Amino acid sequence: MNILDEISRRRTFGIISHPDAGKTTLTEKLLLFGGAIRTAGAIKSKKADRYATSDFMEIEKQRGISVATSVMGFEYGGRKINILDTPGHADFCEDTYRTLTAVDSALMVIDCVKGVEEQTYKLLDVCRMRTTPVMTLINKCDREGRDPISLLDEIEDRLSINVSPVSWPLGIGKTFKGVYHLIDQRLVIFKPHTTATQDVIQINGLSDPKLKEIAGSDYSTFCEEVEMVQGVYPAFNKDAYLNGRVTPVFFGSALNNFGVQELLDFFVEQAPAPQDRIANNQSVSASQSDFSGFIFKIHANIDPKHRNRLAFLRVCSGKFVRNTWFYHVRTGKKIKFSSPTAFMAQDKSVIEEAYPGDIIGLPDSGVFQIGDTITAGTKMKYEGIPSFSPEIFRVVRNMDPLKTKQLKKGLEQLTEEGVAQLFSREGDVRQIVGTVGALQFDVIQYRLANEYGASCQFEPLPYTMACWLSAEDPNILNAYIKKRHRFIGYDKYKAPVYFAETQWSLEREISEYKDITFSKSTEKI
Ligand code: G4P
Repeated sequence: MNILDEISRRRTFGIISHPDAGKTTLTEKLLLFGGAIRTAGAIKSKKADRYATSDFMEIEKQRGISVATSVMGFEYGGRKINILDTPGHADFCEDTYRTLTAVDSALMVIDCVKGVEEQTYKLLDVCRMRTTPVMTLINKCDREGRDPISLLDEIEDRLSINVSPVSWPLGIGKTFKGVYHLIDQRLVIFKPHTTATQDVIQINGLSDPKLKEIAGSDYSTFCEEVEMVQGVYPAFNKDAYLNGRVTPVFFGSALNNFGVQELLDFFVEQAPAPQDRIANNQSVSASQSDFSGFIFKIHANIDPKHRNRLAFLRVCSGKFVRNTWFYHVRTGKKIKFSSPTAFMAQDKSVIEEAYPGDIIGLPDSGVFQIGDTITAGTKMKYEGIPSFSPEIFRVVRNMDPLKTKQLKKGLEQLTEEGVAQLFSREGDVRQIVGTVGALQFDVIQYRLANEYGASCQFEPLPYTMACWLSAEDPNILNAYIKKRHRFIGYDKYKAPVYFAETQWSLEREISEYKDITFSKSTEKI
């Protein structure tokens, strides 16, 4: 197979959802369809372990599990599919956002009972920043969910993306009988609690007697809904989907294996293969012959005695070959890898080569930083590994002055891994740690003690966001920083940020200081 064929058969994506919407269940069902796992429950049981206890030893275990589920590859219909895990729950962190920079598309799972929830909103914002195409599954249709039209309205209103339903549910909850494929005019009959192949009935328009019979008393409501949906929402348009303007919507029940196959078949056909990416303001084609890729995630070794880490690289162009000299752009050094790993289902194995869209694990002794570009020799840097504003801020209190150096080093390395962000303030030696999820503070404290022998405590700060500051006129920026010094900090690249306590205080600041730009994310790392 030549490189163009390899590229066009790859689909690299992430599943975005609020906790409990069904991301793990859907991932598992996708792996089952791909034949990558044989029984349901393989990932699930690990997840159950993961939240069974908050014991700190669990944190170690979790890190092992999250390496195992970071990337799950499988083959389906001649396509090579890579699912990138976007951690949710309490371990929702920068990593979650950054993973989305390494995908070509996303799958959004929405619980039909709960509708659009907080984390979905945040994750979709990241997709929007990068015009990542998004498909949607409205899940748990076997439960008494909300009216499907109100769910679509909510997606459009809250997530500012247009919807194009591809399937439509016949009933919901107790009356859920199946879904109607609006494009193919097929009715897939729902059989609860079974993983057997679904019955698919070809329907000849809404007046087809077969539809009448199956729908029973729901028939007229169903027809009204379908007519309305087809009149109000645009038919699926591939360009609009690829440009991130429209999300095709499916209904189903991941737990019951229902609607998953339709979604997967549509996904492999329509979702984008690896796209061109921007480096140094220029587009780099995935099909160019020179290898290039970037590091989007770094994972510390589970065994604290071995400091080796695993860096996750997304191949962007050309072919990656084991034991070949490549160029590490930031350090200007040559580098080669003797044991790069690929991820198939939950297994890791050493690979000889990899293609655009693939994610490979590179053993790292501390050389890499998130955002590093590796090439065949070209000096360029992929853009788009932004830092996003943390939401919880705490001051680090050093509890063992004899271990000050270790604390500093530990904090630097953990923030390189993307566990948290570090800030400083003028005239204050204590550092500020900012995270997206509260669990990260436990992880940091535990790992500082275990891996670096440092001891610290955290003191809460009243801030809920850090906004990066810029202004066309540096004098205006400097004057602002001086005036508002109590609320000013610096990220680890010394870029100034404004710490806001509330959205309201930020808005007041924005309206009062019109020459200053406040940004909740930065492309710089
Ligand atoms: P997450 O990864 O997004 O957090 O969600 P996960 O798949 O773990 O699903 C959360 C809960 O929702 C699970 O129940 C799961 O079984 C259930 N679920 C997922 N898809 C469906 C569906 O289509 N219909 C219904 N009715 N439930 C669904 P749980 O009780 O928390 O876990 P478990 O005991 O079932 O493992």
